[in-house]
Amino acid sequence: MKKLWLCKKAKFFAVLSVMCVFATVNTPLTFGQASSSKPNDEAIRQRADALLKQMTLEEKIGQLSQLFTLEPPDDLDYQVAKGKLGSLLFVTDPAEINRFQHLAVDHSRLHIPLIFGFDVIHGFRTIFPVPIAMAASWDPALVTQGQAIAGKEARSVGIDWAFAPMLDIARDPRWGRIVEGAGEDPYLGSAMAVAQVRGFQGEYIGAPDHVLACMKHFAGYGAAEGGRDYDASYIPEALLYNVYLPPFHAAVKAGVGSAMSAYMDLNDVPATGNRWLLTDVLRDQWGFKGFVVSDANAVKSLETHGYASVAYDAAVRALEAGVNMEMGLHKTAYAGNLLKAVQDGKVTETQIEDAARPILEAKMRLGLFDHPYVDEARAREVVATPEHREAARRAAERTVVLLRNEGGVLPLSKTAYKKIAVIGPTADSQIDTIGPWALQGDPKETVTVLAGVKNKLGSQVEVNYAPGVQISRKYRSLFDRIMRIEPEQPWSAAQAHDEMLKAVNLANSSDLTILILGEMQNMIGESASRESLDLPGQEEDLMENVVAASKHVVLGLMSGRPLNIKWGTEHIPAILEIWYPGTQGGNAVANVLFGDAVPGGKLPFAWPRDVGQIPINYAHNRTQAPEDQGKRYWGEESTPLFPFGYGLSYSTFEFSNLRISRSEIRPGESLDVQVDLENTGNTAADEVAQLYIHQEYGSASRPVRELKGFERVALAPHEKKTLHFSLGKEELSYWNSAKKDWVLDRAVFDVWAGGDSDATLHSSFTVAGP
Ligand code: NOJ
Repeated sequence: MKKLWLCKKAKFFAVLSVMCVFATVNTPLTFGQASSSKPNDEAIRQRADALLKQMTLEEKIGQLSQLFTLEPPDDLDYQVAKGKLGSLLFVTDPAEINRFQHLAVDHSRLHIPLIFGFDVIHGFRTIFPVPIAMAASWDPALVTQGQAIAGKEARSVGIDWAFAPMLDIARDPRWGRIVEGAGEDPYLGSAMAVAQVRGFQGEYIGAPDHVLACMKHFAGYGAAEGGRDYDASYIPEALLYNVYLPPFHAAVKAGVGSAMSAYMDLNDVPATGNRWLLTDVLRDQWGFKGFVVSDANAVKSLETHGYASVAYDAAVRALEAGVNMEMGLHKTAYAGNLLKAVQDGKVTETQIEDAARPILEAKMRLGLFDHPYVDEARAREVVATPEHREAARRAAERTVVLLRNEGGVLPLSKTAYKKIAVIGPTADSQIDTIGPWALQGDPKETVTVLAGVKNKLGSQVEVNYAPGVQISRKYRSLFDRIMRIEPEQPWSAAQAHDEMLKAVNLANSSDLTILILGEMQNMIGESASRESLDLPGQEEDLMENVVAASKHVVLGLMSGRPLNIKWGTEHIPAILEIWYPGTQGGNAVANVLFGDAVPGGKLPFAWPRDVGQIPINYAHNRTQAPEDQGKRYWGEESTPLFPFGYGLSYSTFEFSNLRISRSEIRPGESLDVQVDLENTGNTAADEVAQLYIHQEYGSASRPVRELKGFERVALAPHEKKTLHFSLGKEELSYWNSAKKDWVLDRAVFDVWAGGDSDATLHSSFTVAGP
């Protein structure tokens, strides 16, 4: 049997190569650039319909499958040439992309191009700070710029489709994928969603040098029980509508072209088989016109979940739920079963057409039918340009959050220290500096903190390095496996002792220690949850020993989640969250440390004191004993270590004069909120003005505070600006699960403005009316 297939295959490729020569002669080689103006929706629709009319049922079903090329099936070329696939993911070499595209365009009966997808999460080759860090910039324009660069680099190699933005709200930092999103808040999350969609897609789907965006993971993935990746989520309807869905809805309003269905069970119905989610909400309520791709193997997983009986059932139910395209490893359930399902009358050909249409439309919008190939030479000019690296550095500077700066230790003087110790296992690690989900990032181009400090200080200052500890983990992460990163040889006990001693001696003999602690990049991301937020391995010991030995010490945390740094906040005067800062991370961190950039980032989550406090999101409801709210645990406060929205600066700011244009409005009306913000220090710096509301009573209990406006403002020393926010129906309404509707209660609303979610400057207004 196998022999027969191989023989058939050989014959097929012999014919194919002859056809290839013929085709390249006859097909003008046009390079993949999209249209210079927004395509007309109606024209696209007609073109897709006309094509569908010519397609066989098998060809339509073919469009609904996407395969990985990591471990390709033997007959992948054959499948492409026969129109059995609509998309491939993980091809990143432009020559290989063109080869596959030629197979599809030159050889499939109707010359339908493939769409190439890839995880472009925080950069393609030029790696920006991880998404949680970008959210910490509270700077949507910066986020748009970062994803535009990522999209441009990806498009230049022939990738048309980014599997981002990741819009999952995460209120449990044990969940490793917190690093990919914008944190705990739906308002900030929505702003970041819109910013990313704009960055990836540009003005319209198909704008030159841009890619199709894919919002994911729809929806509720961030609420995985116990923070264990892939575990079931149980999310009450009110929380879904008010917290977990808004970033997705915002992305749809911003025109996102595709969505990825999530892996997990949502309230006992897997998201990938969840018709309520994928059709009732996404298409019927929100009017989404793009297409849904399943997460990898998620259709087949319907069987694993104990939802579908067999792969056939899984294929039928995913299609019925609203999954247009199935992402699979070797063979999809769609490819194996949908033809039979139509023949059996379980699904109709019209359903198949409806699934295929938005995929074809996306390919048309992206210009793939007219310019299917990529200019292989151009890729070299576009990726990792000095401009892109410069943008990545600036982004990294703007994401840094200053958590503590007792006595104004920071910024450091460039001339006061003659000998500096840089200590910590990630301080000179390029792979950790770029962070997780940077599959095409080149670690060798990455500037570590050690390198950044050396670049900054030149030969004037002696800068020495010691890792101090080695972090080893029990399991190899998904990325280790994909990127084929082999675990380091573990240190022996004697070596570990010596390395610790070396670090302590180095700290002791230096004038200043820059200590970089946190997690290795493979401890966070997909399939990388933690049961603890403690500093990993022996880092806590290293911290305590080094602090005892140092004359001066500053701590930088390289992480994508909050960590237990209670001891640090009691003993180290200056602490910065530097995240996984990307390609230019070390230069950015050095700029911040030595005052050439001023930190202005703010936390996109409340920072727990201890893992046992989770969840500790700021927008919780009031309790019957509000004055007691901070004292619920036997041995620990129940307030966070740092509140949501928190971050210090090298300057100081004052908010004053909070005024509301009207003390009373009717439902549907809006009012203006104004507040003055002054830089009261001597350093030019940014402050993020934040506006919070609280509804005092109504037809449901509402959170103590909810973010409803923000602006990152640059202020010269002693400069004062008046900021404007608007509050109206959109900001004041919420989903009421008893009424099964959005409501706007007649009630009194508190308003606060300030630099974090503990803001004290207060006012109030009333919504009155019939
Ligand atoms: C699984 C992940 O959950 C998803 O985010 C990613 O886009 C796909 N794999 C493709 O790599």
